[in-house]
Amino acid sequence: MEPHRGVPPSRPAVARLNATHLEKMRIVAHGSNDPKGRYYDMLRTQILQEMDKNGWQFLAVTSPTPNCGKTVTACNLALSMARLPERAALLVDMDMHKAKVAEYLGLEARNNILSVLEDRATVGASIVEACAGPNEIAVLPGAVSSASASEWIASQTMANLLQAIKRDFRSRVVIFDLPPMLVGSDVISILPRMDAVLLVAGVGTTTPNDLKACQKHLQRSNLLRVVVNKVTEATESYYYGNYST
Ligand SMILES: Nc1ncnc2c1ncn2[C@@H]1O[C@H](COP(=O)(O)OP(=O)(O)OP(=O)(O)O)[C@@H](O)[C@H]1O
Ligand SMILES: [Mg+2]
Repeated sequence: MEPHRGVPPSRPAVARLNATHLEKMRIVAHGSNDPKGRYYDMLRTQILQEMDKNGWQFLAVTSPTPNCGKTVTACNLALSMARLPERAALLVDMDMHKAKVAEYLGLEARNNILSVLEDRATVGASIVEACAGPNEIAVLPGAVSSASASEWIASQTMANLLQAIKRDFRSRVVIFDLPPMLVGSDVISILPRMDAVLLVAGVGTTTPNDLKACQKHLQRSNLLRVVVNKVTEATESYYYGNYST
């Protein structure tokens, strides 16, 4: 997806999302006919109610271990929010080990979070306005910087970026696609800067012990929901029967 040419560098690039690509990547909440879209709409509504009630803006999406469905969930939630009148979302890819948001959405990004952190571009020039039909989400794409991800996440530069986002995107709910909690220290160091957390557990990947370990790290955070992802009828009773929040 080509950003429009001729956009001044301080203004966001604009891209039109391709519905076929989104659906191939399991992103269905842009208004497709897929019934899973309704599930994301319900989750969105519950999350927004809770966030509005508390005046929260920053939502962290994480999971215990890799591959649980964080990125798919974060993209779907952002697009579901965009379909509500008078609501807008900013999706920030903060997984500097596996930055996949742009790929999942089918965006080609000129700049990314690392361009901002390294002071090569402004936030405004690094955001892509991604349009799905009449709706729009703002996206700050990610970049892989595995060797220094933990340092960046814990840095004052990152704290400044988050402050700038809070100031400049006051009217938007900001969804952060984070790495897994139990791998490395990235999530633990960024959690105090988040208002609320959505934990995505993956059937076949997440164990009850993983969830308990996460709960320990989340004691001082506002855990909104544990989403059990990749559920089939065969696995449903195991998860719902063994764990409740
Ligand atoms: N509900 C689902 N059912 C089946 N497959 C799914 C589901 N949700 C996500 N997936 C698939 O699982 C894989 C991992 O999803 P995703 O990239 O969203 O996970 P992640 O938690 O962000 O992973 P990582 O830890 O690598 O960042 C992808 O191939 C995705 O298409
Ligand atoms: Mg991911």
